[in-house]
Amino acid sequence: TLIEAFGFLLFVGGDSSEDEYAKVDWDNLGFGITPVDYMYTMKCSSDGKFEQGQLAPYGNVDLSPSAAGLYEGTKAYRTEDGRLLLFRLDQNATRMKMGADRLCMPCPSSFQFIDAVKQTALANKRWIPPRGKGTLYIRPLLMGSGPILGLAPATEYTFLVYASPVGNYFKEGLKPLNLYVEDEFHRATRGGAGGVKSITNYAPVLKAMARAKSRGFSDVLYLDSANKKNLEEVSSCNIFLVKGNIISTPATSGTILQGVTRRSIIEIALDHGYQVEERAIPVDELMDADEVFCTGTAVGVAPVGTITYQDRRVEYNVGEESVSQKLYSILEGIKKGVIEDKKGWTIEI
Ligand code: COI
Repeated sequence: TLIEAFGFLLFVGGDSSEDEYAKVDWDNLGFGITPVDYMYTMKCSSDGKFEQGQLAPYGNVDLSPSAAGLYEGTKAYRTEDGRLLLFRLDQNATRMKMGADRLCMPCPSSFQFIDAVKQTALANKRWIPPRGKGTLYIRPLLMGSGPILGLAPATEYTFLVYASPVGNYFKEGLKPLNLYVEDEFHRATRGGAGGVKSITNYAPVLKAMARAKSRGFSDVLYLDSANKKNLEEVSSCNIFLVKGNIISTPATSGTILQGVTRRSIIEIALDHGYQVEERAIPVDELMDADEVFCTGTAVGVAPVGTITYQDRRVEYNVGEESVSQKLYSILEGIKKGVIEDKKGWTIEI
């Protein structure tokens, strides 16, 4: 053991970093973690520059709770009469379970998940924005936190929930989005884990998104990787097309996230007399849709003003009278306690 005392390095007992070899059974090394003396860490901030790194004793690292793994997203809302509401948490709990199963992770039960979100929302209730100013975004997160060197499930997992008050997701605010259809990069592949709400599905979109944004677009709409033909989703949300009374959205066949807002909009649309089709949607259908909109917890329901695909740019109906605005105001009304929740979607805390 190496002990620093009185300015001297004092060696007590056998094993020390000065010995030629550490105490290890060298004949029986497998591919597992043997904690060694030191590790090196060096941090890089958002300016892209790594600071001077340093050696430190091998051990746990400080990690921001908002560093992601397998995650969920939900929001807390204030009602006019001062109640606090959460929305369809059972759906988030189920989705995390599906994702955990796909990635071989253990998952909290629905009860544990919902209870943790409720506790976090309540403990942070002073951060829920006043009505009309935003919402409290709540992010339940599941990550491997135990040591593992080989390719296998982690040896320990951490589930945590954090929250932050948020306003509009897009810098455009509520203005219609200008989307770019990407046919070089793909978000997910068949048989992969594109339907799982894991950060591994968001990292691959960053390059295409940055390129599109630098060209003035709001975000990217992805095509299926096998045929480059059918619509998938936008980097952060699902997509819907409206043609007359028919609302279509890509079917969730493993490469598309099963959005809670997506499901809710489908159910509201059906209740209000629209025909809803969940199916493969060829990119060419964008050319003659009346309206296009995006849905997601962070995004809400966002109207799309234009879509650019190869050398074609199409404009869509937007505004107060649009189908998306009608569906959005019903959804928001339920979430914020303005419209009676006949579906049992909201939870008061
Ligand atoms: C959400 O909508 O909750 C998400 O997690 C999307 C994310 C890109 C902010």
